[in-house]
Amino acid sequence: MILDHVIGLFSNDMSIDLGTANTLVLLKNKGIIINEPSVVAIQNDKYGRNNILAVGKEAKDMIGKTPGNIEAIRPMKDGVIADFDITEKMIRYFIEKAHKRKSFIRPRIVICVPYGLTQVERKAVKESAMSAGAREVYLIEEPMAAAIGADLDIKKPHGNLVVDIGGGTTEIGVISLGGLVICKSIRVAGDKIDRAIVDYIKKKYNLLIGDRTGENIKIEIGTAIKTDEEVSLNIKGRDQISGLLVSIELTSEDAREAMKEPLKEIGNALKDILELTPPDLAGDIVENGIVLTGGGALIRGLDKYLSEIVKLPVYVAEEPLLAVAKGTGRVLEEIDLLKQIIND
Ligand SMILES: Nc1ncnc2c1ncn2[C@@H]1O[C@H](COP(=O)(O)OP(=O)(O)OP(=O)(O)O)[C@@H](O)[C@H]1O
Ligand SMILES: [Mg+2]
Repeated sequence: MILDHVIGLFSNDMSIDLGTANTLVLLKNKGIIINEPSVVAIQNDKYGRNNILAVGKEAKDMIGKTPGNIEAIRPMKDGVIADFDITEKMIRYFIEKAHKRKSFIRPRIVICVPYGLTQVERKAVKESAMSAGAREVYLIEEPMAAAIGADLDIKKPHGNLVVDIGGGTTEIGVISLGGLVICKSIRVAGDKIDRAIVDYIKKKYNLLIGDRTGENIKIEIGTAIKTDEEVSLNIKGRDQISGLLVSIELTSEDAREAMKEPLKEIGNALKDILELTPPDLAGDIVENGIVLTGGGALIRGLDKYLSEIVKLPVYVAEEPLLAVAKGTGRVLEEIDLLKQIIND
C-alpha cells in the first residue's frame, strides 16, 4: 500500500478517451497531449500477418486511398469493439506514444469507454492497457465523463441531462448523486449522419462520393435548421450512369434534407429518455436545461433543433469535442470522485 502510494506520486498517470472516431490522451498535470483519429492502417504481408503501418491522423488520411494489401481500419465502430486485436494494438500505441518510453514507472490509467460495452469488451480494454504497462486501470462510462467535462455538478442530488453525440454512438444520460440514473445509447451519431449524406447524394444526384466527403459536407455546410446564412459547397464524385468524374454545387438545404432522418432519431431518443426520467429529476432538467457534448454537438443549429422538439433549453458545452477527455482527466485528479463513480 505504502509503496503503491509512493509510486503513485512519481508516475505519469493518464486518462484516455477511447472514442470510436477520436482518441484523446491526457497526462496528469500536463493536459491533453494526444488527440488523433481512432484509425489504424494495416498491411497484410504474404504470411498473413497484420503489420501496423500507421496509427491516428496518418492512418485516417489513408482511408479510401489504400492499395490492395493495405487497409485503414477503425477498430471501434458503432460504439462496439469490432476488432479486438487491432484495438489492443491501438491502445498500446497511444499509451507508449504518451510516455515516449521514458518513464519506468507504470501509470494508473482511467479509460472512458462507450456506454453499453459488454463485459468481454471491457475486459479486453483493461487487459490491453495492462499489457501496455499500466499499473491499475479504471473504466468510466462516456455520459458520466461527458457530464463532468461539461462542468455539470454531478455529485449533487440534482438531475442533469447530457447528450454526447460522438462518431459511433449518441449517449443520453440523466445523472444525479454521482450515478447514471438512466441512460440510452443509440448507434446513430456522426458516422450515420455522414452515411446518410452519401446515400442522399447518390439517390438525388446519381453521384457516388466517399464517407470522408460526406463528413466534409456535414462539417462545412450542414445545418439542423434553416439559417440565414445558407452556404454551398462544390463536391466531386463519380456519376453513376456515365461513370465520369463530375462536380456539383451542394447547398445547406441539401445537407439539411440529407441529415433529417438521423437527426430525427436523436431527437426521438431524447424524448424517450425524458419520458422515463423520474418527475423530481425532470423538474431539475427543466430548470437546468440539456447539455450537448461530442463532435456532433458542433452541427450548426442542433441545439435549437433539439430544443424545439423537447421544448426545453439546450446548450452546447464549451469545446464539445474535448468534454469527455477533460471529464475523464478530472476523474484522474480527484481520486475520491474516481471511487464514487467507477463501477466495474
Ligand atoms: N464542426 C463539426 N460539425 C459537425 N460535426 C463534427 C464537427 N467536428 C467534428 N464532427 C463530428 O464529430 C464526430 C466525432 O466526435 P467525437 O470525437 O466526440 O466522437 P468519438 O468520441 O470518437 O465517438 P464516440 O463517442 O461515439 O465513441 C465525427 O462524426 C465528426 O465528423
Ligand atoms: Mg466520445
